[in-house]
Amino acid sequence: MKRAVEATLQPLLPQAQRYAKLAAGLQGMALPCALVDLDAFDSNLAAMAQRAAGKPIRLASKSLRVPALIRRALAYGPAYSGILCYSVAEAVALAEQGMDDILVAYPTCQPAVLDVFTSAVATGRHIVAMVDCEQHLLALQAAADCAGTSLEVAFDLDMSFDLPGLHFGVYRSPLNTPGKVMALYTKLKDYPSLQLVGVMGYEAQIAGVGDAVPGKWVENQVVRWLKAWATPRVAARRQEMVAALRQAGALLRFVNGGGTGSLVSTAADTSVTELGAGSGLYTPTLFDYYQDFQHEPAAFFALEACRSAGTGSITCQGGGYVASGAAGKHKLPQPVWPAGLSLLGQEGAGEVQTPLFGRTDVTVGDTVLFRPAKAGEYLDRFNSVLLLRDGQIVEQVPTYRGMGWQFF
Ligand SMILES: Cc1ncc(COP(=O)(O)O)c(C=O)c1O
Repeated sequence: MKRAVEATLQPLLPQAQRYAKLAAGLQGMALPCALVDLDAFDSNLAAMAQRAAGKPIRLASKSLRVPALIRRALAYGPAYSGILCYSVAEAVALAEQGMDDILVAYPTCQPAVLDVFTSAVATGRHIVAMVDCEQHLLALQAAADCAGTSLEVAFDLDMSFDLPGLHFGVYRSPLNTPGKVMALYTKLKDYPSLQLVGVMGYEAQIAGVGDAVPGKWVENQVVRWLKAWATPRVAARRQEMVAALRQAGALLRFVNGGGTGSLVSTAADTSVTELGAGSGLYTPTLFDYYQDFQHEPAAFFALEACRSAGTGSITCQGGGYVASGAAGKHKLPQPVWPAGLSLLGQEGAGEVQTPLFGRTDVTVGDTVLFRPAKAGEYLDRFNSVLLLRDGQIVEQVPTYRGMGWQFF
């Protein structure tokens, strides 16, 4: 079948050459600006599809936040199907743009938000809500009653493990045994407007934790050992829960699992019908350090070098687009072009001024290219993103923020 987006695993230009071309391609553009290298993005589309081994990837929209790029990924072909949204309001906004098959990955009980959701569903939008406890069922049933509609829901299955001194995974859902899953399924019968259509079991501790971080040999060995220990147990737990639901008569349309960092192991779980991923398409710096794969940096922002406090220092305008989560240096964006620049420990990436050191030949007026630590999130600081092909700007498209969307 001919793909709408032609993406291959052909080698790209060496990174330094690509970065130089990207920076040169921004000549005359107002800075700061966000940019995506389509050569790298398309190469990542192909590489992620290959790692998913035939199971479709539902796009984690929080890791993209640009409707045109979500569409580009969906146009790649059957390897990408459906959207994994991060908020109900976002799901409705995307549905209003004509996007379909939307699963909201995180629950809410807010009546005002659920009213918008039920109105969208009542007008034929295909959006599935996430639940993991009876409060979620109550809130959804109340909203469904008000709108006179029925709603599709999915169960969020907990894939974390409590080890001595370590919670290996994330704190999200309480559904960590087949018994608890079945108890919620039994309760669901008291909510006549809600229908279970799928489950999601996201193993964040495998998908989202790097295990080849430079300078962290010991930590890498521990993380690899923990991942190797947890991977079969995640699969076994997910399989048991899915089997129990199916035996009880649940008609599950999908079993979602994984993320960019676990495509291969999650796809190997026979209970999983689809994967959920997004970050790998942009490959921010946090996704550089996995032993199993290497995708291409595709998302950047560019700043103006606007002043110099003296030889060896150059200061850029803007830059403090720091990633969320547990704080640390690894959450800072990194300058990547001109090569050899680095942030200053005592200032980091600043709210309006970001000093860099390491070169004497970068001068006031130059353009400095950065990579964000996490995908998607930094785009909430930009109204639009420039799309470049072979170092030339081919399009400027709105981000969520540029659409006037701000969900959290
Ligand atoms: C529920 C869920 N699924 C999948 C993912 C994977 O997304 P990504 O590939 O962007 O890491 C995430 C990311 O946090 C998530 O929360």
